[in-house]
Amino acid sequence: MSQPTQQSVKLTGWGRYAPSQVLSNADLERMVDTSDEWIVSRTGIRERRVAAAHETTASMGAVAALRAIHTAGLQPEDIDIIILATLTPDYWMPSTAALVKEAIGNTKAFAFDVMAACSGFVYGYATASAYIQAGLAKHALVIGAELLTRFLDYTDRSTCILFGDGAGAVVLSASDEPVSPVGIELTTEPQGAYMIWLPAGGSKSPPSPETIARGEHKIRMEGRETYRFATRTLASTALAAVGKAGWTQDDVDLIIPHQANVRIIEAVAKGLDLPMDKLYVNLDKYGNTSAASVPIALAEAVNEGRVDVGDRIVFVAFGAGFTSGAVAMEWTADPARGRTADDAVRPEDVTVRAPIDWDSVDPIPPALAEILARPLPLPAELDLSDVVPGEPELVHQPTR
Ligand SMILES: CC(C)(COP(=O)(O)OP(=O)(O)OC[C@H]1O[C@@H](n2cnc3c(N)ncnc32)[C@H](O)[C@@H]1OP(=O)(O)O)[C@@H](O)C(=O)NCCC(=O)NCCS
Repeated sequence: MSQPTQQSVKLTGWGRYAPSQVLSNADLERMVDTSDEWIVSRTGIRERRVAAAHETTASMGAVAALRAIHTAGLQPEDIDIIILATLTPDYWMPSTAALVKEAIGNTKAFAFDVMAACSGFVYGYATASAYIQAGLAKHALVIGAELLTRFLDYTDRSTCILFGDGAGAVVLSASDEPVSPVGIELTTEPQGAYMIWLPAGGSKSPPSPETIARGEHKIRMEGRETYRFATRTLASTALAAVGKAGWTQDDVDLIIPHQANVRIIEAVAKGLDLPMDKLYVNLDKYGNTSAASVPIALAEAVNEGRVDVGDRIVFVAFGAGFTSGAVAMEWTADPARGRTADDAVRPEDVTVRAPIDWDSVDPIPPALAEILARPLPLPAELDLSDVVPGEPELVHQPTR
C-alpha cells in the first residue's frame, strides 16, 4: 500500500494590530509602587498598548486577520479554517474565532479558539498546518489576539507592569511547490499549572460576589518560577524544532521569541550560543501580549526587513500550563507584501456585531480609566510655569 502524500504548507500572509493608546512606565508609576528604572532593568519593557472601550479581542483579531489576508493576496472568502488563540476571549461562548469570521466577511470557514496561553499562537499554527497537510483545508487563518489589560490587578506591581493588548495573524496556504522541511515542537508540563493562572470564572470556581471580592478574576503569577521555566524551556523547545527541520542552531538566521522579558530572551541567546542580533525584540513597545506576541513580532520583523526569502527562522513561545511551542521554517514569501497592509485595512472599517438589546458594562478597569483620561502631555513635557507672557525672546540678536 502506498503512503498518503502530505500536502505542502507555506506561510503566505502576515499582519498585526496594536491599539493606539499607550500606557507608559511613567503612567504605571502613578498607579503602583514601581519605577521606570525597575521595569526597564528587570524586563526591558518601556510601554504597552491598551485597547479602547469599543475594542475587543475579536475586533483587534479581525483587523490583524484582514491585514494578513491582504498580504497573502487573498479575499476573506478564500479562508477555509480560522483558528484564534487567546486567553482573553470576548465571551466564554461563542468562540472569538466565530466572531472574527463574521467580522471579516467570510461565510465558509469553520472556526474555533485554542487556549494554550502565551504558546497559543504556535499551537494554532501547528494545528492549521496539520489540517492543510491532511488535505482538509487550502487556506488557514491563524490569529493570536489578547486584551489582557482588562484582566490585570492594578494593585499588583509584579504583574500589571508586564502585559499589554494587541493582535497578530498569519495565513497558511497549501502549495504545489516543494517546501523545505518544517520543524514543530510543542510541550505541556502541568506541574506548572498554578504558576500563571486566573483562579475564578471557570467551572471550578464560578463567578460570585466572593470571587470578585477576593480578586480572583485577575491574572496571578509566580514570577521567579515562571522565569526559571522560561529560560530552561524556550531554548530547548527551539532546539527541538530546529533539529526536526534538519538544521543545527548555526543555520538559524532569526529567532522570533515570545516577548515576555528581555532577560529571558538574553538567556535564550546564551543557551543557544547565538548573538542577540539573531533574536528579534519588540517588547519595549508592547510588553507581553501573550498569544499575540509572536505573530505581532513576526509581522514587524518581516516588515522591518529583518527576514529575506530563503532565511531560516524560528518562532518560539512559552506560557501558562506550562506550555511551550516552536516552529522552524524557511521563509518563502516576498517580505515587501506586508508593508501595505496597515494602510489597506483601517480599524475603523472593521465591525464586530454586538448582541441585540444587551449593554455591556464599561470594560475599562477604574484604575486605568483614571490614567487614560489624562490630558495629552505637552511635547517634551515643557515646563511653562515660569514663562511670562510678553515680548518673545530673540534667538539671534540683531546686529547693530
Ligand atoms: C516578574 C519579574 C520581572 C520579576 O523580576 P525579578 O527580578 O524576579 O524580581 P523578584 O520577583 O525577585 O522581586 C524583586 C523585588 O522587586 C519587587 N518588585 C516586584 N515588582 C516590582 C515592580 N514592578 N516595581 C518595583 N519593585 C518590584 C519585589 O517585591 C521584590 O522586592 P523584595 O525583594 O523587597 O521582596 C520576573 O520574575 C519575570 O519576568 N518572570 C517571568 C514572568 C513572565 O514572563 N510571565 C509571563 C509568562 S508568559
